[in-house]
Amino acid sequence: MHNDVEKILFSEDEIRNAVAALGKRIAADVSGNGTPLFIGILKGSFIFMADLVRETGINCEMDFMIAKSYGNSTVSSGTVNIVKDISADITGRDVIVVEDILDTARTLAAVKELLLSRSPASVKICTLLDKVTAKRVSDLKADYKCFDVGNEFVVGYGLDYAEKYRNLKYIGVLKREVYEK
Ligand code: IMP
Repeated sequence: MHNDVEKILFSEDEIRNAVAALGKRIAADVSGNGTPLFIGILKGSFIFMADLVRETGINCEMDFMIAKSYGNSTVSSGTVNIVKDISADITGRDVIVVEDILDTARTLAAVKELLLSRSPASVKICTLLDKVTAKRVSDLKADYKCFDVGNEFVVGYGLDYAEKYRNLKYIGVLKREVYEK
């Protein structure tokens, strides 16, 4: 697994520190509109979400959605499909959507629009990584993020290529030969 990684972008320690700082920031920002709901976008956010909610130290609830815009490819496929929706009622509640990486923003724009149609008090976007130079299809911006990355294909800490590498403890750039062979 490690042999397929070109370089490490963020170490386990750097990730831990960034997630802890972000968790504290979010905890300080919650407004008190009932219990906030964290919605993790599966599968990429599951490790980040698990660490983040523990770092907030606040009373909160969690739910998950599956929204797909990628197949086994390293470029966006163009359509978003909500494969699994949340079961929680979000009317009047503060919602924090937790995503692994913001690339074209297609996935999160679709998810945010759907959630806003259900009359929440607020919807905030929290992403582990932000591909700042990526071609965006929406003007959606992250309210919270840990790190900016360039236009490289990254794996680890929940992020996959063809379902692998999610369990790397660090975030790294995948060698091109892995997905070009
Ligand atoms: P968007 O809808 O184009 O913003 O795509 C977001 C989704 O694409 C993420 O949730 C990831 O699943 C996937 N993705 C985009 N870039 C990468 C990457 O560099 N590594 C792994 N997955 C990626």
